[in-house]
Amino acid sequence: MAEVVIVDSGEAAGRLVADHIAELVHLNPEMVLGVATGSSPLSVYRELARRRSQGVDFGRSQGVDFGRAWAFALDEYVGLPEGHPQSYRAVIDREVTVPLGFDPARVNVPDGGDEGIESTGERYEEALVARGGVDLQLLGIGTTGHIGFNEPGSSFGSLTRVKTLTTQTRADNARFFDSPDEVPIHCVTQGLGTILRARHLVLLAFGEAKAKAVAAAVEGAMTASLPGSAIQLHEHVTVVIDEAAASRLEHADYYRWAQDHKPAWQGI
Ligand code: F6R
Repeated sequence: MAEVVIVDSGEAAGRLVADHIAELVHLNPEMVLGVATGSSPLSVYRELARRRSQGVDFGRSQGVDFGRAWAFALDEYVGLPEGHPQSYRAVIDREVTVPLGFDPARVNVPDGGDEGIESTGERYEEALVARGGVDLQLLGIGTTGHIGFNEPGSSFGSLTRVKTLTTQTRADNARFFDSPDEVPIHCVTQGLGTILRARHLVLLAFGEAKAKAVAAAVEGAMTASLPGSAIQLHEHVTVVIDEAAASRLEHADYYRWAQDHKPAWQGI
């Protein structure tokens, strides 16, 4: 079962997860971080960037240095012109590579260009395997229950491939574009099988709009109709959510109780 941590705010989530990532990269400077785009992981990136620029003390380590670490993005839109500010390559550059100080040569985003699109998934899988897989994968969850862009119906064994976005996801993501029609119809996304290979999954969700998907993913039946429920198969999952996103969880009181009585050595 997933560990569910209910926090007061996005900032508190950012601090909790940033602590853990900073510790990981301190122990292994060449760690592989799985990065998501969208709003949910932003507090983590901002907290890591703040610590990097201010050299803030935390736990056993000092400052945070991603100069030798690797990053793999979950997904990318298909067919946006190169350099489009909403391409996930551009978003990852802006939110992760530059502020966290990754070497751009060590940051991987699936190639959503039309040329060679048939084999882009396979190439991404090979790159992931060659790097030894993801140590910690950050995830958001869509209102459709998607993780990555694995929309309802995605196989639990799926690998990186081209998918069609749902009308709902296109509407949800229209806020990043000038007009809803500009949101691409297709994407390349790591599959559920790819995501499940990461050694630790950290799913972040905030706000009432995510409550239904969070409850279904954490406590509902495991089903391809709710792709986020695939996290129930993983041995090490941490779900970090605010009160609003937790509002439909049946066992919220138990999760709070467990956190209040968590052994100090355990970490996330
Ligand atoms: C992004 C991704 C998506 C988002 C999800 C939630 O790379 O794979 O699964 O995490 O759509 O998006 P936000 O965080 O913007 O609500």
